Amino acid sequence: MKHLLSIENLSRADMETILSATATVKRQRGHHTPLPLAGRTWALIFAKSSTRTRVSFEVGLRELGANVMFLSAADIQLGRGEPIKDTARVLGRMVHGAVFRTFAQADVEEFARYANIPTINALTDEEHPCQILTDIFTFQEQRGPIQGKVVTFVGDGACNVPASWVFAAAKLGFELRIAAPKQFQPPLSLLERAGFNHVHAQPTPTGEVITATIAATGGKVILTADLQAAATGAHLLYTDVWVSMGKEAEAAERIHALTGYQINASLVKLAAPDALVMHCLPAYRGKEIDDATFEAHAQTIFDEAENRLHTQKAIIAWLVA
Ligand code: CP
Ligand code: NVA
Repeated sequence: MKHLLSIENLSRADMETILSATATVKRQRGHHTPLPLAGRTWALIFAKSSTRTRVSFEVGLRELGANVMFLSAADIQLGRGEPIKDTARVLGRMVHGAVFRTFAQADVEEFARYANIPTINALTDEEHPCQILTDIFTFQEQRGPIQGKVVTFVGDGACNVPASWVFAAAKLGFELRIAAPKQFQPPLSLLERAGFNHVHAQPTPTGEVITATIAATGGKVILTADLQAAATGAHLLYTDVWVSMGKEAEAAERIHALTGYQINASLVKLAAPDALVMHCLPAYRGKEIDDATFEAHAQTIFDEAENRLHTQKAIIAWLVA
């Protein structure tokens, strides 16, 4: 039984399979014959809001022939405290696959274990694997192999999206720079879990800079508060919201601490001349990105959003193969 629960536990070979299938699925959209999921029903269980992930899975599953059932966690007994493992065992007897967006990573893993049907992590507090597969696909579609390239993540470096980027950098061998104040950088334990075995801390006037490498793949992660240094020469500038879902109570302090960690024209000037700017969305203009820069790069950002659909279909096809 295959699941897609994290980038951490997805092999490089499986990532490459999904990424190359995405290109095929995108090219062949509208010509799926026969429909591989005809007669099957998939459940989408969401405990957090979603536009892109929900719509891309609903459309993608239907295009593959499946029936789709959207279940807001608040509307099923899960929202009233029914245990995950009981919900999972019920759904596992009725539906053929599940897409689950929730808070704890452990909950998605428990669901997969008990439901015994292909299960996809549609975002947890710890990872957003479907997003990162799409982002890498989008980068490679527009700029070629990501291996050896420099990706700079700007903003809340301690949330789910940058964590998935860290695991991807370790596996695919690119350089990931995370520009964030110290308290919004991922913990060293995450780098260790990703397999970075040489970790070096360098004191600098703008604070400690952590450099971590993994010889087997050439992957590298740099954690720094120095936004300008992190952006210099980057092939991709990437950002995510400063206030992730579930962190609303910390909004004021996050906005205060992250002010300045923004993708804007002066930052783009420091990056490589043909650098891409991407955002997983939703975007908060004037916070993690300014309006002019967002609109200047809207073509790429909405290609990225569209590619969620193609990637989800490739993920599902890989899971049920
Ligand atoms: N990027 C992303 O996952 O968007 P949604 O929250 O709208 O699904
Ligand atoms: N880090 C964000 C991603 C949204 C797609 C969140 O968890 O809200």
